[in-house]
Amino acid sequence: MQSPEITAWHPASWQGRKALQQPNYSDPAALEDAVGQLAKLPPLVVSWEIEALRERIAAAQRGEQFLLQAGDCAESFAECESDHIAKQLKVILQLSLVLLHGLKRPVIRVGRMAGQYAKPRSADTETREGMTLPCYRGDTVNRPEFTAAAREPDPQLLLRGYERAGLTINFVRALIDGGFADLHHPEYWNLGFLHHSPLKEAYERIVREIGDALDFFKSLTGGQVHEASRVDFYTSHEGLHLHYEQAQTRFIPRSQRWYNLSTHMPWIGMRTAQLDGAHVEYFRGIANPVGVKVGAAMDSGWLQGLVATLNPQNQPGRLTLIHRFGANEIEKSLPRLIQAVKATGHSVLWVCDPMHGNTETTVGGVKTRRLENIQKEIELAFRIHAAHGSNLGGAHLELTGEDVTECTGGARGLSDADLARAYRTQVDPRLNYEQALELGMMIAERSKKARAS
Ligand code: PEP
Ligand code: CO
Repeated sequence: MQSPEITAWHPASWQGRKALQQPNYSDPAALEDAVGQLAKLPPLVVSWEIEALRERIAAAQRGEQFLLQAGDCAESFAECESDHIAKQLKVILQLSLVLLHGLKRPVIRVGRMAGQYAKPRSADTETREGMTLPCYRGDTVNRPEFTAAAREPDPQLLLRGYERAGLTINFVRALIDGGFADLHHPEYWNLGFLHHSPLKEAYERIVREIGDALDFFKSLTGGQVHEASRVDFYTSHEGLHLHYEQAQTRFIPRSQRWYNLSTHMPWIGMRTAQLDGAHVEYFRGIANPVGVKVGAAMDSGWLQGLVATLNPQNQPGRLTLIHRFGANEIEKSLPRLIQAVKATGHSVLWVCDPMHGNTETTVGGVKTRRLENIQKEIELAFRIHAAHGSNLGGAHLELTGEDVTECTGGARGLSDADLARAYRTQVDPRLNYEQALELGMMIAERSKKARAS
């Protein structure tokens, strides 16, 4: 696929392209009003943080760090409350600790948080018992209940989404600045149910070993390990709703560049990565590090076009490719895409999303994922990258700190029959805290073995 003709970029230039997956608002004036208000509100993040993240992603490209991008498939307004946010932060911190211990590399923590409110859907409408309504597109667009009023896209929800993203990021920043993420005190992030977990011992051993290492360092240097008491935490969401993204796009005189200041790292989803589409047009002009989801349907020319369009200067840290093939497909598709990127001479960060290619539906009609397939795809991703002289530099996961039953498998052997017990997701099935830790331990173990061999 050839790149379209390059024309002048500005935050609204995407409006001249085809924008997929956008809601159909019935009142354009109401949309314009909401977007106008959003454009005046203060940003949620600042360009210094964004630049710092880009530099860390550049380090991950060189194999020196590892990106952990994780969180809910979709955040919901109802779950914008302290317990849920703290649990999300806890499970990401625990997982990052396990990865840090196993990989012996700094882990870049990026939440799918504080703005993950807009979802791509496979159909525009949904029909139940003869009634057809617009599909649910995420809390920033409409409501999941199956009534005409709930499903009508409401531009005011963009403001409610921005506010909740602001409340979320404020709480996360306060927890982190207050010492919640201090590596000297991992007990702050213990999730209650870990006490009953088959993984408890293995996790506690890791915590002890890190504690010993920090104490050892302290005794050597006579001081605290500064970096350990305040970890960095970044936010990301799918940059799907382009009016929302545009409204938060600001010109920073210091660097003479445009930044999306609603999040540190927006990504383009699988369904909206067309080279001549509105999303690629919008993303090419912002200075943030950006991600693109890459799947089996993408051919080499298309991927090369994305690399050239989104990162023409080959700037380190700018472009992360998040591949999501499924355990059965990755061996067929990943090698040719690695070769395609190699042929451009550009560097990217490769990240494996082992979730979205492994979704299946049970005989009872429930959407689920099996931990064994998720683990298999990660394992294959590490091997395939290594075999092709490439580097897998991160993992992209859908998980929750809640004790849900949405994915099967894991230390407690959840089966299809267990799914009904605590199935809460509005969209995709997430790993629960234990399954997430188990996956982290698998990654940690395999890299210890790889170092030893
Ligand atoms: C997602 O990350 O929730 C998602 C919709 O992924 P993808 O674009 O890879 O299908
Ligand atoms: Co999802």
